Amino acid sequence: MSDGNKLDSKFETLDRKNAEALLGGGQARIDAQHKKGKLTARERIDLLLDEGSFEEIGKFVMHRSKDFGLDKEYYLGDGVVTGYGTVNGRLVYVFSQDFTVFGGSLSETHAEKIVKIMDLAMKNGAPVIGLNDSGGARIQEGVVSLGGYADIFYKNTLASGVVPQLSGIMGPCAGGAVYSPAITDFILMVEDTSYMFVTGPNVVKTVTHETVTSEELGGASTHSTKSGVTHFSCANEVVCIQNIKQLLSYMPQNCEELPPSLPYEAQADETREVLNSIVPENPNQPYDIREVIEGIIDADSFLEVHKNFGENIVVGFARLAGRSIGIVGNQPAVLAGVLDINASTKAARFVRFCDSFNIPLLVLEDVPGFLPGTDQEWRGIITNGAKLLYAFCEATVPRVTVITRKAYGGAYDVMNSKHIGADLNYAWPTAEIAVMGAKGAAEIIFKREIAAAEDPEAKLAEKVAEYQSKFATPYRAAHRGFVDEVIYPSETRAKLIRAFKMLENKVDQLPKKKHGNIPL
Ligand code: HXC
Repeated sequence: MSDGNKLDSKFETLDRKNAEALLGGGQARIDAQHKKGKLTARERIDLLLDEGSFEEIGKFVMHRSKDFGLDKEYYLGDGVVTGYGTVNGRLVYVFSQDFTVFGGSLSETHAEKIVKIMDLAMKNGAPVIGLNDSGGARIQEGVVSLGGYADIFYKNTLASGVVPQLSGIMGPCAGGAVYSPAITDFILMVEDTSYMFVTGPNVVKTVTHETVTSEELGGASTHSTKSGVTHFSCANEVVCIQNIKQLLSYMPQNCEELPPSLPYEAQADETREVLNSIVPENPNQPYDIREVIEGIIDADSFLEVHKNFGENIVVGFARLAGRSIGIVGNQPAVLAGVLDINASTKAARFVRFCDSFNIPLLVLEDVPGFLPGTDQEWRGIITNGAKLLYAFCEATVPRVTVITRKAYGGAYDVMNSKHIGADLNYAWPTAEIAVMGAKGAAEIIFKREIAAAEDPEAKLAEKVAEYQSKFATPYRAAHRGFVDEVIYPSETRAKLIRAFKMLENKVDQLPKKKHGNIPL
């Protein structure tokens, strides 16, 4: 055989192995995956990354197991496709579990591949995107597989706050496996084809005697509304991957960098008249804070996070004059915008993400206070409300608040007040900044006077009006400097563009410590 032929056969071996790796668990299983309405691991990567940018790492990795027939059954790549590529020209690391290989289950080597790209991501400062589709621990491997999970959890934790970590849930994700996505920054689930739970319906039936389907227990709709485990519920895999790309566009590559800005040509007039007529005259009438958001930000730039969970607060990313910002807004259209447990934890996590990755914060405030009641108290509104307070207090990114209407009680302090470190605090003329609403206040401080009056109703009305005229305005706070400026709603966008530009080089340091102890 000539040297040329030898070389040919070596190249053929490589071709054969490459083709074998691309087929994962084989064509029949790929067909079965498609039949379930699911894409394959590689198809998902193709959708996510810029065309031709994917470089695979560990394509020929195989498991090392010998038990239960695994000495005879192996697949190149071992159930996870890993590597790096670009999304809109920016480097990302990706792992995509291949359900066609042992149901995407996690073996020792499968875990090693994931850990390897996480190490690379941390050293090189770029996001990690995990596309999860797995039957959990590789049952034939036992504790070795559990160890692999723990290695991933540990890396997820070390990487937290260093590089953004995003988890797309494209299929099953059960048992302890759920804890890797849970540690990452954002979870996106696909409706009808993905689920997450610690124990499945069968175990639930045995232990609690509840009958529940996988979808009810841990589908996208459950986790986007009831538990808040997922930040996005996506109609299908394509939408899920589009959302991942859009999310990335607001983020820097790592904690040392600033988020990317889009080019923006300064406009001669940034006035938005529409903002003048959103807050109704009647302070008890609701309005949609999203209208205020849309009136302030660059057109079509809002990506709402956790849309269907804790709807009394709205959080999400947007752009202001091309600059990436995080927005937290009380939502008067739901429960009057009150702060409860879900709203507090939802917003706290969002604030902490933005602060980790240098994304400035804009807070839109219209909050009547914390939600009263035994349900909230017994489930710990104290501890959970403190999370949001703590998150704002420790945030060192540029922070600006606009009080559109109510800023009552403890919620006034919590919602990014100047006292806890906001850089600038604006109020609209419609703002009411006080310890509580005028009626409640009058009933308490004029209790005796009202009771002794000939016409208690009329007395109450008189005292309410008195309290309202004194406190239901932004001016007391402005006299103290707690509000920096009372502005026309229509000039809010222009003011904020200048404010965030002024704050772009802000440097603020927390006292030296190992880490704080956020009330969990
Ligand atoms: C090895 C597995 C597997 C697993 C599935 N497969 N899960 N192989 N280990 N964990 C294999 C199947 O044998 C099958 O192989 C192929 O993957 C597809 O599985 P099917 O059952 O045919 O698919 P489907 O009907 O879609 O059901 C998917 C499933 C089910 C719901 C995920 O397979 C299932 O319940 N698997 C077990 C889940 C589980 O209990 N995992 C352990 C959880 S505990 P063939 O050869 O037929 O294609 C855990 C602990 C983690 O994960 C702890 C971390 C701390």
